[in-house]
Amino acid sequence: MTKKLDIRWMKVTDSTNNRALEGIPSEKDKTVWAAEFQTAGRGQRGNVWKAAKAQNLTFSILLKPDFILAKDQFIVSVIITLGIESYLKKKGVTTQIKWPNDIYALNNKICGILIEHSISGEYLSASVCGIGLNINQRTFPEDLPNPTSLILELEKLNELQNNLSLKDELEVLVRNIFDYYNRAKEEFNATGTYNLLYSEYLNKLYRKGEWHNYIETAENKRVEARIIGINQNACIILEYRNGTKKAFAFKEIAYVL
Ligand code: BTN
Repeated sequence: MTKKLDIRWMKVTDSTNNRALEGIPSEKDKTVWAAEFQTAGRGQRGNVWKAAKAQNLTFSILLKPDFILAKDQFIVSVIITLGIESYLKKKGVTTQIKWPNDIYALNNKICGILIEHSISGEYLSASVCGIGLNINQRTFPEDLPNPTSLILELEKLNELQNNLSLKDELEVLVRNIFDYYNRAKEEFNATGTYNLLYSEYLNKLYRKGEWHNYIETAENKRVEARIIGINQNACIILEYRNGTKKAFAFKEIAYVL
C-alpha cells in the first residue's frame, strides 16, 4: 500500500521555508508545507522568489536525514534535483540540473530550490528543502531573466492542455523526491557512499563538457571554460582552454547565459 503523504496546504503564507523551519522541533521527517501564495518567498543569494498566485508549486519539505553526515550535505541537493528532474521527465519534459540546484529546460529556468540545513554534531539533523516549480504560469514579470513553466514546455512540444491540478502534481512530485531519498539511504547503507546518485546527477548536469563563458566573481573576470565535474566539497570544477583546472564554490562563479 502506498504511504499517505503529510502535505499541509495553505492559501497564503510568508514563506513555506519559514513554516518548515518552525516545524523542525516538533514535526516528522517528510512533512510538507505548500502555499497557493507566498508574500515573502525567498530565493538564493538573498533574492525574492516571485510566483503568481495559485499557478505554481511553492512548497517546502522537512527532512530529518539522521543518516546523512554533515560533510555529505550536498546529497540533499542531489536527491531533490533528481526527484524533480525525473518527475518532469515523466511529464514528457527533458530538463537539466544547473549546479548546484536549479532546474533548466534548455536555457530557461523552470524551478528554483533553496535548501537550509541544521547540523547536530557530525550529522544533518534537519534540512528544509524549499522548491518553487513553475506549473501553469504563462507570462512572467519582465525582470525575471529566463523563466519557463511546465505548461509552456508542454505547449512547445505541441501538447496543449488545460491547467494542471497543483494538488495532484505535488503528490506525484513529492513521491518522486521521496523515492530518491530512499535510494540515498539504501545506497549509503549498502556502500557507505552515494556514488551512484552522484553519477546520475553528473549525467544530468547543465552545460557539462561544453565550452561557455563564466564570470569569476571575485575578480569580475569573464572566462571561457567547460564544466568537467564536481569535487568532494560540492564545488564545480572548470577546465580552461589552456588545460588548467579550478574549483569554485557557489557565489564564486556565475554562468553567462
Ligand atoms: C532560487 O532563487 O532559485 C530559489 C528559489 C526557491 C523558492 C522556493 S518557493 C518555496 C520555498 N519558500 C521560499 O521562500 N523559497 C522556496
